[in-house]
Amino acid sequence: MSAAKIAAKEPAVQTLETGTYYWCSCGLSKNQPFCDGSHEGSDFKPVAFEITETKQVALCQCKRTATPPFCDGKHKDP
Ligand code: FES
Repeated sequence: MSAAKIAAKEPAVQTLETGTYYWCSCGLSKNQPFCDGSHEGSDFKPVAFEITETKQVALCQCKRTATPPFCDGKHKDP
């Protein structure tokens, strides 16, 4: 499996409302940090996650996090 494209070297900090979201794991989506279907034909799949109360989250955009969909600071690695 090839490495995901780095969409940005910073997390997307957003306030999300209750609901189900699909985080882009491939880095190709034009609607970062969410899946827009651009992974079609690759080995990548979006990561579904639930938000149960309105809250601010930091979503990974470098696609190297060990805790998807959330940023773990990996974008700071050289
Ligand atoms: Fe990246 Fe769907 S567009 S996982």
